[in-house]
Amino acid sequence: MTNMQALSYEPAPRRAPARTRGETPAEITLPLPDMAGGVPLMKALAQRASTREFSDAPLLPATLGALLWAADGVNRPAKGGRTAPSAHAFYEIDIYAVLPYGVYLYDAPRHRLVLKVPSDARNLTGYQDFVGEAPLDLVYVVNMSRLLSMPAQQREIFAAIAAGAIAQNVSLYCASAGLGCVVRGWINHRLLGDALKLNEDELPILAQTVGMLATTLSSLAD
Ligand SMILES: Cc1cc2nc3c(=O)[nH]c(=O)nc-3n(C[C@H](O)[C@H](O)[C@H](O)COP(=O)(O)O)c2cc1C
Repeated sequence: MTNMQALSYEPAPRRAPARTRGETPAEITLPLPDMAGGVPLMKALAQRASTREFSDAPLLPATLGALLWAADGVNRPAKGGRTAPSAHAFYEIDIYAVLPYGVYLYDAPRHRLVLKVPSDARNLTGYQDFVGEAPLDLVYVVNMSRLLSMPAQQREIFAAIAAGAIAQNVSLYCASAGLGCVVRGWINHRLLGDALKLNEDELPILAQTVGMLATTLSSLAD
């Protein structure tokens, strides 16, 4: 990551990852979604919105599986095609799932999560108050080494577009499943790079918090 790429906001106070909650498996096999599930696309579009108040209720494995498949899962196994587009099919965006029980990398071809860091790094994924409360923060990381055959001036633009497509898939899934989410560009790149144990050629460019809406849970309890 160059200084230009890491630029941006006021330095955040130096924070440490929190202790993990629950077991931290080395690998989590994810359930595939019900392909006939969800609300009609137009209804999901009508409901899509950013939310910033979350409950800390954990996401069920089925939800995590459906969410990540919607994000950038393999939808055409014969050719390895994915739910989100990628220029030249370089698939340069890695999705990190930052969970209370560890930081995991989404392995789309095998639809599983692979443990990267055994700590709760949710509080390091952004500056806002709700960060660290919701059960899941996704972090979209560009792997620059996959883009070397692309002209240099296109690399970051195309990667940002690919991350945006993934984030919108997640937003539409959340709208369909009644979950809250918000895309976040206000991230501390260096802090996040360290928390996710990224290499120099890996750049975190966007985060997205996902969780149940605080209001949904309180109305369920009534
Ligand atoms: C690239 C990008 C970065 C964003 N960064 C943040 C952020 O850091 N924090 C935040 O609360 N919202 C962030 N947002 C969400 C916008 O604030 C939000 O989309 C906008 O206010 C419109 O509201 P809506 O999404 O409910 O339509 C970001 C959105 C985009 C597309």
